[in-house]
Amino acid sequence: MNIQTNIALSTLTTMKIGGNADRVVNVTSEEELQRAYNNSKELGQPIYILGGGSNLIVHDEGFAGAIIRIKIMGIDILDDNQETATITAGAGETWDVFVQQMVGRNLSGIETMSGIPGTVGAAPVQNIGAYGQELADTFVSLRAYDTQSDDFVILKKEDCGFAYRHSIFRGEQVGRYIITHVTLTLNKKPPVPPFYDALQQHLSQRQVNIAGVTVQKIRDAVIEIRSNKLPDPSQLPNAGSFFKNPIVPLQLGETLKATYPEIPIYPVDGIRVKIPAGWLIQSCDLKGRVFHGVKVHDGNAVVLVNESAQGYADLAAARKEITDCVYRKFKITLEQEPLEL
Ligand code: EPU
Repeated sequence: MNIQTNIALSTLTTMKIGGNADRVVNVTSEEELQRAYNNSKELGQPIYILGGGSNLIVHDEGFAGAIIRIKIMGIDILDDNQETATITAGAGETWDVFVQQMVGRNLSGIETMSGIPGTVGAAPVQNIGAYGQELADTFVSLRAYDTQSDDFVILKKEDCGFAYRHSIFRGEQVGRYIITHVTLTLNKKPPVPPFYDALQQHLSQRQVNIAGVTVQKIRDAVIEIRSNKLPDPSQLPNAGSFFKNPIVPLQLGETLKATYPEIPIYPVDGIRVKIPAGWLIQSCDLKGRVFHGVKVHDGNAVVLVNESAQGYADLAAARKEITDCVYRKFKITLEQEPLEL
């Protein structure tokens, strides 16, 4: 177990904002995690679990407690048959390294989630998704430390309450479970078209034979599409999509379509539709604009880049200007996607 004190959380998050944490504890095993958790509890210190820091916004006050960083590693094959392979990965593994390895084995199911920053353990928390796949599609179960019972438990897919960018881990059970391992079942069949629009277009422009496309080709395409639209957090501080794509009543979608025929609208169920937050923000002419040192990204307006914000207050002021603009024009309230500490 490795313990550091008085650490700037701006250095541990990709948005590069936020004050200091009293303690940062890196744990490499379940046993260390349980010990670290109980130590901090005995000291009466608040505890927060941090993954890659790519989906977290930290306040200027920082955190007067212990940040536990899960560094539990390892990728194990549990079952391997003609059609599928079931794999368990440690929560500390970098998500994209895991994807790369699975693609290297020609396994399908997570290849369009290539390039998403963060760790394997953080993936279920917001049910990550991109270009037509989301974690819940291949998810089998996870192992977690249950802070209520001081024991390790297995949670199956149906226990996790997955929905669009949502799970019990950021909802009704927030703070209760600390994920240590994630198990997925991946497919050995080649990817089957039709693919997500942007992906399909990218592949056809490059004359890739869509019927026989490999998982590696899909991964390469997604990485290229992402690099054009989404800023690399190691170059330009950001937390991916800063807003969720709002889910609104079908009727509102239809009214908007009548006024703005070009609006992209995706069906959710019979009564609701999803509208890209990036389109709404762009339609308010905010793309490329800078508010309080925070820039609405040129490639996709749903991403906010921290150019020179002095702290959380600047980010909050920028967020307010953007959400107010969207509300004034569309009567839709954008919700923040990253978690906050
Ligand atoms: N659009 C615009 N202007 C913009 C952004 C988008 O007009 O500034 C339009 C696009 O032209 C397209 C539609 O909106 O017609 C959808 O855009 P895109 O495919 O780029 O995806 P998105 O809805 O902006 C979502 C996820 C991304 C994920 C992509 C691809 C959310 C909040 N975001 O973005 O996830 O990579 O789809 O599947 O659901 C993330 O969660 O951090 C993230 C990056």
